[in-house]
Amino acid sequence: MMEINKLIPAPEIRNWTGPFDDTEYYLNLGKEQAEKIIQWLSIKPEQKILDIGCGCGRIAIHFLNYLNEQGKYIGIDSNKLLLSYCEDNISTVNNNFQFEFVDAYNGAYSRDGKLKCQDIVFPVENESVDTVIMWSVFTHMYLADIDAYLKEIHRVLKKGGLFISSFNLYNKFIENQIKTDKAYLNINYKINEASYTLDKETPEGGFAHDEEKIKDLYWENGFFIREIKYGIWSSKELAGEFHDCIIAEKLEDCLLPK
Ligand SMILES: C[S@@+](CC[C@H](N)C(=O)[O-])C[C@H]1O[C@@H](n2cnc3c(N)ncnc32)[C@H](O)[C@@H]1O
Repeated sequence: MMEINKLIPAPEIRNWTGPFDDTEYYLNLGKEQAEKIIQWLSIKPEQKILDIGCGCGRIAIHFLNYLNEQGKYIGIDSNKLLLSYCEDNISTVNNNFQFEFVDAYNGAYSRDGKLKCQDIVFPVENESVDTVIMWSVFTHMYLADIDAYLKEIHRVLKKGGLFISSFNLYNKFIENQIKTDKAYLNINYKINEASYTLDKETPEGGFAHDEEKIKDLYWENGFFIREIKYGIWSSKELAGEFHDCIIAEKLEDCLLPK
């Protein structure tokens, strides 16, 4: 058994991915989320997983003792510091865990990125992965970039494969919660008809996107939404996962929207 607690990066690395001064919190939250992902998506130990925006491997490390020798974990990220941590510390203990840099621009995470998301091709073969994870990444991307990544995810995911992504979904309920100061996150600076941000100077710091628009994008890109698990960012009175999570399935070609 791999000792996961040896894979906690220094605060100046891990705090890029959330408020993680506390090492126990970093480790326990990642464990809890990885266990939920495994359960919700019925991930098997022999599967090939793609984690897009893997950060410093906060979730990846909890698959080290779950995947077997046939299993494979590919992490992709646009931030070199975070990705190097994964290459130097995770791939070195298990070479079935592989990490790949993508040179994408993101105003909050990779300001030196040279490419738009529309020009990114994941270094992964067509229809070769069983499951895709995107945790706390679409919450930092514009809608046009989400659209481009959905196309790439559709290319690399096997038919019938599952894909989980967290969001801040904007709907009538959250609008009211924000107005009445009942939401945890006050994401209310409107960028356009379908997107809001926490911070107008660096919009990628945290977006909420219109729920209906996201559902349309999933459908147009060949994904059937199996389930939305609403998070607690919308209400100080709830308990559970912080962001909303969409679990979607790649459609068979015959079911694709024309
Ligand atoms: C909030 S962190 C989440 C990291 C990780 N998923 C986790 O839950 O710990 C967002 C991550 O997305 C990455 N990211 C942002 N835009 C990206 C893009 N266009 N392509 C790949 N990674 C991206 C960032 O570099 C960062 O590591």
